[in-house]
Amino acid sequence: MKKTLKRWFQDKIGIGENRDKLALLEKRLAALATLEQWALPEVLPIPSEAVNEAWSATMDTLGLSEPWNACSRAIHRSDPMFRYPFQVHGGDTLAVLSEYFHTGAEAVLQVQSLAPNADRILDFGGGYGRVGRFLTAGFPHSKRLISDPKASAVAFQITHFGALADDQQPVDLIFAGSVFTHLPEADFRSTLNTLLGRLSRGGALILTLHEFQTNRFVYHPYTEESALRELEDVLSEDAYGSVYCSESFWRESLQASEGSWSYEILPERFGGTQLYVVVKGA
Ligand SMILES: C[S@@+](CC[C@H](N)C(=O)[O-])C[C@H]1O[C@@H](n2cnc3c(N)ncnc32)[C@H](O)[C@@H]1O
Repeated sequence: MKKTLKRWFQDKIGIGENRDKLALLEKRLAALATLEQWALPEVLPIPSEAVNEAWSATMDTLGLSEPWNACSRAIHRSDPMFRYPFQVHGGDTLAVLSEYFHTGAEAVLQVQSLAPNADRILDFGGGYGRVGRFLTAGFPHSKRLISDPKASAVAFQITHFGALADDQQPVDLIFAGSVFTHLPEADFRSTLNTLLGRLSRGGALILTLHEFQTNRFVYHPYTEESALRELEDVLSEDAYGSVYCSESFWRESLQASEGSWSYEILPERFGGTQLYVVVKGA
């Protein structure tokens, strides 16, 4: 009995002879995932019934019609904002699609309500366009710029959502959704300073952060990127982690930026969890 129990624990935690089996299985899965990735078309071939059902649910819940309904529904094969929840929820397509579309549309409604007349908008760290696809509906007459370290993401947003490559000129509105929740401390501070320097007079930076913590600044290397190494343009764990900070760290970083700035935390939450932080010239 004792031997059987010992063996059972070993199987569960992967020690002894089972450790190698688990490592082999992990490598086999990683190889299969890479092979599968090579075979995928750029736009995921998700059954249209599921896409349309999730899309309609989003439109109905948020009370949206045209031009929102006409936005592109294409999802890139390497979009971790879709792929990671899809993996975590064991392929529950409808739930994951609904959350994906809802998060993007709701964010644009939020941003639109804060700066309806923004002429030049930068979707900073916009990725593969979970949010960016809806900017054309929220800001039909504006120039919508995209920047992201992933070349494939920028290209996708330009081709499919009519975004423009970032020209580094001043902008009226910057949205950085779930970007500062990932940057190492030095990058967090320097990026904040750079983005504030891009704002035109009266402009606003809207970024998202995790709920403030008591710890000043914590960086964990594990993210959706580290869980999906097979995706293209994947980011390194040194440059992209999971970040939690205190409000005093945030205030300090803002005060250290050039210029004089004030901020407001909105009652709404990005994707249901992250704080919207709106920064404007004081
Ligand atoms: C969690 S994703 C969010 C993507 C998109 N904003 C959304 O909400 O769907 C974070 C994005 O930030 C980008 N990113 C990572 N490091 C960055 C940096 N230093 N500057 C700008 N963007 C960065 C990533 O490539 C990724 O697309």
